[in-house]
Amino acid sequence: MCGIVGYIGHKQAFPILISGLKRLEYRGYDSSGISILNGDIKTFKRKGKVSDLEDFVKGKDIEGCIGIGHTRWATHGEPNDVNAHPHTSMNGYFTLIHNGIIENYSSLKKKLEQRSYTFKSETDTEVLVNLIEYIYLKGNASAEMAVRLALQKVVGAYGLVIMCGDEKDKLIAARKGSPLVIGVGDDEYYIASDATPIVQYTKSVIYLNDDDVAVIQRGELSLKTIRNDKQTPVIHQINIEIGEIEKNGFDHFMLKEIYEQPRSILDTFRGRISLERTAIHLGGLFEVMPQLIQAKRIVIIGCGTSWHAGMVGEYLLEEFARIPVEVEYASEFRYRNPVIYKDDVVIAISQSGETADTLAAIKQAKDAGALVLGICNVVGSSIPRETHAGVYTHAGPEIGVASTKAFTAQVTVLTMMAISLGMARGFVTPEHGKQLIAELSAIPEKIEKVLANNEKYKQIAGLFRFATNFLYLGRGYLFPVALEGALKLKEISYIHAEGYPAAEMKHGPIALIDNKMPVVVIATRDQTYEKIVSNIQEVKARSGIVIAVVNEGDEVIGKMADFVLEVPLTDFAVAPLVTVVPLQLLSYHIAVLRGCNVDQPRNLAKSVTVE
Ligand code: G6P
Repeated sequence: MCGIVGYIGHKQAFPILISGLKRLEYRGYDSSGISILNGDIKTFKRKGKVSDLEDFVKGKDIEGCIGIGHTRWATHGEPNDVNAHPHTSMNGYFTLIHNGIIENYSSLKKKLEQRSYTFKSETDTEVLVNLIEYIYLKGNASAEMAVRLALQKVVGAYGLVIMCGDEKDKLIAARKGSPLVIGVGDDEYYIASDATPIVQYTKSVIYLNDDDVAVIQRGELSLKTIRNDKQTPVIHQINIEIGEIEKNGFDHFMLKEIYEQPRSILDTFRGRISLERTAIHLGGLFEVMPQLIQAKRIVIIGCGTSWHAGMVGEYLLEEFARIPVEVEYASEFRYRNPVIYKDDVVIAISQSGETADTLAAIKQAKDAGALVLGICNVVGSSIPRETHAGVYTHAGPEIGVASTKAFTAQVTVLTMMAISLGMARGFVTPEHGKQLIAELSAIPEKIEKVLANNEKYKQIAGLFRFATNFLYLGRGYLFPVALEGALKLKEISYIHAEGYPAAEMKHGPIALIDNKMPVVVIATRDQTYEKIVSNIQEVKARSGIVIAVVNEGDEVIGKMADFVLEVPLTDFAVAPLVTVVPLQLLSYHIAVLRGCNVDQPRNLAKSVTVE
């Protein structure tokens, strides 16, 4: 969380920093700030959105070709002007932006207070900038050395960029646990938390590794570790196009991303499945396939929507590959001393590839000797670099905070893995494999049909925009879809919603049913269809309101439910990919009608880099 940007070169820094912060606003939007180094350092910061900062600086002197900027998701200290970044050290020598948490900040603060340091904000970041200054002044160190020595004393996570008033033509960037990318231009450098603010200027980037410290001057970059070991910067080429990170005529990124799903799913399986040869080729898993085929157990870890995708993965992998699967929240896994064997395979799922709990769980699984695989969307992010092997989802940048196309892309990868392992282990015959691959390749077209019903979702959303509670029910593969539907509604509309396995309703939630609370039932045809029909009857018998997601032409549920959302018939194994889409759109329209900020829901951030 928190987005950071920096620029050093021959252009005016301010416009680059502001547009970079707008692109990174999905990482946090409690406050924002910018510092420009032009002779001296000028800092402008404001509580609220980047647009509030833009208004605040109107008419002020923002000239200068070196600068840093920050958009904040508050951890230490409430969102206000004082706690906003950048933070400047007590004597004004250093100004710093930071993403992450300095865990030992309170003991460092005490020591600095004993040495007469005073603090204006409640942040851990101000402690760090003062520590750097203290070392700089006391040790007669260079700025770079002061940064390295200070970071050796820090416990925690950081991605940071620092300016020093004494060393005017320089930015210093460092990373541990929080991502930092440096864009390499023509005698200029761009720094950002991810590549999205950089792609419009350059496609050449350097990803910093943990413990790296980069000293960046106009035409020169040197890379070391915090222990002063020289590193060789590796330049990667990124292939994100600018159109992918703009709204392209949609009102919100979330809506654009929902509509992108036919394309993004195609991109996920493009070149990886072959109907003619009944083959699935996941290049990233090629070398580990023998180990994967022999796995005694698979443990899937993730957070939020990625955890829901993992649950679909459990059903798929157990069904087709016949390998026992457990799905765990990464945050629980890492703290509960799990039993992990060397022949276990751990699959970490993450859109951003930066989620702190997932990264920590990966480390734990690696230490226990398991083979650890990643399913990630952001190329070059930390999780793909920390895992032994993996598969990129290739869904393209996802900017809306509520995840949509990343979920369907993750499920697509898990479907391919399950079919491929099922065939390799002899549980899926070539004919069955061929049929499943055909079903998967038909999904983009079927989602197009679901999207064509958008007006209907909008109408139903209008009827339920004032509801205070929703219940989502599903069985089998559709239970995780119910969880995901409920999460989408909570995240962006602030309506309380719960997802439940439909049969479990009888053990509690049935007590909530009345003629006010909408019950969304995902009830497409599979082996539990008759059972879920009974569950709908149980809701109706108690005057409940049922909104049912059904297959086209389903007259049985059509007669029972108050509202139906029709989706094309699919094999039950790929039904989550189609049935989740009406739920995404329903949540979207409800949130818009309630006047909520869909792309930037309150208190949330897209990339959760703190535990
Ligand atoms: C945050 C986001 C969710 C996301 C979750 C896990 O909570 O708001 O949309 O599902 O983090 O993120 P990851 O990047 O690991 O998938």
